[in-house]
Amino acid sequence: MRISRPGGSDDRRPRPVAGRTASQTATLFAALREAAGDRGWLPFSTYMDLALFHPEAGYYARLEAVGAAGDFATSPSLSPSFGKLFARQFHQIWRHMGHPSRFDLIELGPGAGQFAASVLAEVEQLPRFKRALCYGLVERSASLRTTQAKRLERWSKLTRWGETLAEVAPSGVNGVIVSNEFFDALPCHRLVQTREGLREIAVRVVGERLEEIVVPLGTERLAAELAAEGLALKLGQRIEISLASLDAMAEIGARLRQGAVITVDYGDVAREVYSPRRMGGSVRGFYRHLAVSDPYARPGEQDLTYDVNFTALARRGERAELATLGLLPQGDVLSNLGFDREIAELRRGKSRLEADQASAALEKLVHPQGMGGAFKVLFQGKGLGKADLAGLGGQPLPTFLWPWER
Ligand SMILES: C[S@@+](CC[C@H](N)C(=O)[O-])C[C@H]1O[C@@H](n2cnc3c(N)ncnc32)[C@H](O)[C@@H]1O
Repeated sequence: MRISRPGGSDDRRPRPVAGRTASQTATLFAALREAAGDRGWLPFSTYMDLALFHPEAGYYARLEAVGAAGDFATSPSLSPSFGKLFARQFHQIWRHMGHPSRFDLIELGPGAGQFAASVLAEVEQLPRFKRALCYGLVERSASLRTTQAKRLERWSKLTRWGETLAEVAPSGVNGVIVSNEFFDALPCHRLVQTREGLREIAVRVVGERLEEIVVPLGTERLAAELAAEGLALKLGQRIEISLASLDAMAEIGARLRQGAVITVDYGDVAREVYSPRRMGGSVRGFYRHLAVSDPYARPGEQDLTYDVNFTALARRGERAELATLGLLPQGDVLSNLGFDREIAELRRGKSRLEADQASAALEKLVHPQGMGGAFKVLFQGKGLGKADLAGLGGQPLPTFLWPWER
C-alpha cells in the first residue's frame, strides 16, 4: 500500500500500536507450520494471507482501533478532498443512471473509514442523492470494522457492514463498487523464471525461521494468467500474480447489476509491472514507516504488498461483463474531477503560508512523481451505455492498448 519515497520512509498505513508478543509470534508460526503440513512449505500467497489476516496474530487483525485511525496515511486520510472529489463522480453516475431511488455505493477495504466519511460529508450537500444512497462497507478485519463504525456513527442510517461483498450486497449492486488500496492487500503468488521453466516461490518453515524455496507451479492457472499477458520473462525474473484479486474481480463483476467499478491502487499495466527492469518483482514489506525488502522479516508485524497488474484485473472484469472504460493516473483523475477548483477553495481567504499548508496534502495526491503518478484508477462499467465519466475527462477510453484489443 505504499510507494517508495525519498528516504525510504512511508507512513500511509495503519500499524499495530502494541509490539508483538512472544505468544503471537508462536501462534502465527504454529499456523504457518500447520499450513505447511508434511511437505514443510506453503505457497507465498498462503504465507501473505496468514501474516496479514491471521485472526489473532496477523498484521491487520492486530491493528488497534484508535491507533489504526491515527496511523493511516493513505490518500483518503491525507486529505478529505480525495473522497469529496470522488463523491462528484458517484453523483454523476447516479444521474447518468437516471436518478434511481436506491443507489448502492459499496467500498471494499475501507481501512479507517476516512474515504467513506469524506464522501458522506459531501453527499450532505446533495439531498436527493443522499436519499437514494446506501453505503456498504466490506471489511475483513473486525477491529477495522469497529474503527469505521465509530467514525461513521452519524451516518448509521445510510451505512451497513459485512465481511464479504456477498454479505453486504446479497441481491447485487446497482451503483458503484469502489476501492482504494484494497487489491494490493489481497494475497499474491510469487513466480520465478528458471532454466526449467516457470516455477513458484514458496516459503519453508524451519523452526521459527522462514526460507524461500522454488517449487513447481501449484496450479496451472498461474501459467495461464502469465500466458494471457503475452510477455516473456527473463531468466531469474520474479513476478507476482494474485489469483485472489482475479477471483475478487470475478465476484465484483457477477454482483454488479448496473453501474461502475472504480479501483484505485498503485501498479500499472502488465508490461510495466512485469518489465525486466524490475527483475526482483515488487513484493515488499513496511514496518514502522520504513520499506523493508525482506517480506519474511517480522511476519505478522509488518505490512506486505506488491504492485497491482491492472491489465489482468481489466481482462478478468471483461469476462464478467465489465466493460473496461479506462485507466488513468490518479493525478489526472483528480484533475478531471475538479482538483483546481478544490485547491482554490482550500486556499481562499488564507495567508500564503496557511494556504500552502491547507493545500499541501492535496497537492501530494496529484504530483506525477508521487502518488499522482504511481497510483492509477481503473474505471469499469456495466449497463452504462455511453457514459462520459467525469473522472476520465469525458474521453472515450481505454487510454492504453489493452492486450485483447491488439
Ligand atoms: C491498505 S488498507 C486500505 C484502507 C483504505 N481503503 C484507505 O485507503 O485508507 C486495505 C484494506 O483492505 C482490507 N482488506 C484486505 N483484504 C480484504 C478482504 N479480503 N476483504 C475485505 N477487506 C479486506 C483491510 O483490512 C484494509 O481495510
